[in-house]
Amino acid sequence: MQVTCPAVAILLALGALCGAQPVKFKDCGSTAGKIIIVDITPCPSLPCVLRKGQSYAVNVTFTSKTSSQTSTAAVHGILGGIPVPFNIPNADGCKCGIQCPIRNNQIHHYINSLPVKSEYPSIKLVVEWELKDEHDKDIFCWRIPVQISG
Ligand SMILES: *[C@@H]1O[C@H](CO)[C@@H](O)[C@H](O)[C@H]1NC(C)=O
Repeated sequence: MQVTCPAVAILLALGALCGAQPVKFKDCGSTAGKIIIVDITPCPSLPCVLRKGQSYAVNVTFTSKTSSQTSTAAVHGILGGIPVPFNIPNADGCKCGIQCPIRNNQIHHYINSLPVKSEYPSIKLVVEWELKDEHDKDIFCWRIPVQISG
């Protein structure tokens, strides 16, 4: 990162003070929106170490570039290039902090949690989290590497 925006630096510092941890994500095709911040708490460094039996707070700040009545999340674990569906407690984005209908050019905070079941294997994988609009387009799509541990 050659260009550091002071406003972003201040936001990141504030986030750190309040316990939120912005993580470096890979955008996997957010065509109907723009991701501003992905917070996973706790995840002080990458890969995120996800302990079995714990739940992780997810807070995605994004701008919408679409109008949609609905928003639906899909989470996958990518293992050796193969996406495996991951169950999340609530797939309806409109019940996860997003005001629906979504209007174009609004800032939203998508709030959810990622429960790590004790029966998951202790492996390294990539988590892909999408939020789709009513036309099945990605409002956001991000990927982060994680390590599941006992
Ligand atoms: C989500 O993140 C935004 C931006 O960092 C923050 O303003 C908001 O309070 C957070 N919400 C929750 C529930 O943590």
